[in-house]
Amino acid sequence: MRPRRLAPLLPDPRRLLRYLNPSAAMSPAAAHLATAANPDEDLCASAAADAAVTEELVPAPPLPPPPVSAEERVERAWAHWRRLGAPRLTVAPMVDNSELPFRMLCRRYGADAAYTPMLHSRIFSENEKYRSMEFTTCKFCANDPDILLQAAKMVEPYCDYVDINFGCPQRIARRGNYGAFLMDNLPLVKSLVQNLSANLHVPVSCKIRVFPQLEDTLAYAKMLEEAGASLVAVHGRTRDQKDGKKFRADWDAIKAVKDALRIPVLANGNIRHMEDVKDCLEHTGADGVLSAETLLENPALFAGFRTKEWKEDGDENGDSGLDQADLVIEYLKLCEQYPVPWRMIRSHVHKMLGDWFRVHPEVREELNKQPILTFEWLHDMVMRLKQLGGGVPLYRKEGSIPMAQNELATENA
Ligand SMILES: Cc1cc2nc3c(=O)[nH]c(=O)nc-3n(C[C@H](O)[C@H](O)[C@H](O)COP(=O)(O)O)c2cc1C
Repeated sequence: MRPRRLAPLLPDPRRLLRYLNPSAAMSPAAAHLATAANPDEDLCASAAADAAVTEELVPAPPLPPPPVSAEERVERAWAHWRRLGAPRLTVAPMVDNSELPFRMLCRRYGADAAYTPMLHSRIFSENEKYRSMEFTTCKFCANDPDILLQAAKMVEPYCDYVDINFGCPQRIARRGNYGAFLMDNLPLVKSLVQNLSANLHVPVSCKIRVFPQLEDTLAYAKMLEEAGASLVAVHGRTRDQKDGKKFRADWDAIKAVKDALRIPVLANGNIRHMEDVKDCLEHTGADGVLSAETLLENPALFAGFRTKEWKEDGDENGDSGLDQADLVIEYLKLCEQYPVPWRMIRSHVHKMLGDWFRVHPEVREELNKQPILTFEWLHDMVMRLKQLGGGVPLYRKEGSIPMAQNELATENA
């Protein structure tokens, strides 16, 4: 079956690209704005993606009749999920880090679906430059149902779901009163979900954090389902547990949500390798998992590769033949094809090559000092690291998990 994307969970990258492509989506004025001031804000390339995306826009599906009963809503939620191929392995939303080329890289290495980063609904509706630069996404934060709907309608033709973010715990979300801070105003949350689910062609999903008390989490999740959500992703940490390395996600709470809801539920937290995926699905009964931080270091996680930190005694002694440097080169090629701001590339290169930079900090310093990046410079840097020796091998048990060669990977290889 064709591997589908969720769209917070992901949009079809080719359809998405049409939106991303500056020549298609950005007015000359906006394009000018994008190249001002900080070179890291510039797109890394310009028209390369044109040819690939010209015929890809698919018209929005006809508006379905409004569901008459809760029963019917649940049935539709599952039908949609199955139509997408019941994606189990999903790239979580990450501001500035789950942009299109990175999602495509993860999908080449086993991810079934991917969230795009979160978008600010009001800025998205009002600002063309923001839309053009940042719309590798359909995940929204908002606290006004009409503004949210306005933004969601602009992206729904390109998405398999529109997701409302109730998970962001950052200070900026507190200041703007969105993300996880809407947990203090559940009637507003309900109206956001109701308004979107009643007026969009595509289903609405919600990504949430848990409350300290299980009964509050369950009441919250049930309210989302009743308000019309078709999918709930549960990050098993509270709003105050920001440090993922310090706080383990609560899989028991996720299991309780899965048991209480009738729509598909995804589990998020503590997924560092495929063994975790198996354990988490068994423990929670969830329909799939999301991973974020580990994927930044190891985009091949879902294809069964592990970083040295998670290498097991029984793993092959040597490396798997795949090195982080290979993934960086692959990622850079995708960026040439599908332009994104340089700051995103900088961030991924740092994360993927972190171990190497710890051994050769002088190369990291040089990267940090580069005011303007080019693909040529980055390729040379990777070559230099290779010549310095070492590398950042990934590990994989021989024959353990088959490499997922999904359709996207083949198309874009
Ligand atoms: C760089 C980064 C940016 C993130 N941005 C968002 C965001 O905008 N919205 C959101 O709901 N979660 C965001 N998250 C949280 C992740 O989606 C995920 O819920 C969290 O990291 C837990 O998953 P993990 O344990 O696999 O890292 C972000 C995480 C990272 C590492």
